[in-house]
Amino acid sequence: MKKELIAGNWKMNGSLAGNEALVKALLAGLPAQPCEVAVCVPALYLAQLQALVAGSPIELGAQDVSMHESGAYTGELSAAMLREFGVRYAIVGHSERRQYHGETDQLVAAKAKTALASGVTPIVCVGETLAQREAGKTEEVVKRQLAAVIHTNGHCISEIVVAYEPVWAIGTGKTASPEQAQQVHAVLRAQLKAASAQAERIRILYGGSMNAANAAQLLSQPDIDGGLIGGASLKAQDFLSIIAAAL
Ligand code: 13P
Repeated sequence: MKKELIAGNWKMNGSLAGNEALVKALLAGLPAQPCEVAVCVPALYLAQLQALVAGSPIELGAQDVSMHESGAYTGELSAAMLREFGVRYAIVGHSERRQYHGETDQLVAAKAKTALASGVTPIVCVGETLAQREAGKTEEVVKRQLAAVIHTNGHCISEIVVAYEPVWAIGTGKTASPEQAQQVHAVLRAQLKAASAQAERIRILYGGSMNAANAAQLLSQPDIDGGLIGGASLKAQDFLSIIAAAL
């Protein structure tokens, strides 16, 4: 059976001192047999985090990766560079990058491909805005976003992680109900199944105001295989409660 994955997305938060305190509290509070746990931290802190989590069950993730392998791309970070710092996962296509940095479905798909080629597992984010949901377009939007990744990556998609993050639930305190989330996860699972015989092993995470109080119910849904946690991943006790709910 696939292990659930609880990944924290720290976004643009942290400091050298704060990171150390947070990771030490997490390590002290982790259960003996945790689900898979990862923290996706600002790239500048990867070296610090690599040392802090060495030999522990916590895996390291980045929040973005370049679609290029190397070269004249000022400000970009390659998947190979991330690997050098022990990075296992890279979030690609987070709605904040689609929205504030103009990332397209094609760019997101290309980033996933480059990451896979370097041994970094992309966590591909999809999700609809409130306007799209209210217009009845949720399925159409998430399927279009995932289709680009499937098209570009072919059979390699069995190696990716998908995260369904409804934009209206991110940082708003509004969570999709377990039924609403499961409904979309089932759509994504069916789309993955049509593209890969290995679709059952692909983890589909839910993200969007997941917290200690709602995690257990969300994670008990048949097609929810973990969580991508923003705000609650910055507080050790909250993140540990979510990890406990995934056991
Ligand atoms: P919040 O958990 O803060 O809503 O953020 C979710 C998210 O965007 C994780 O990538």
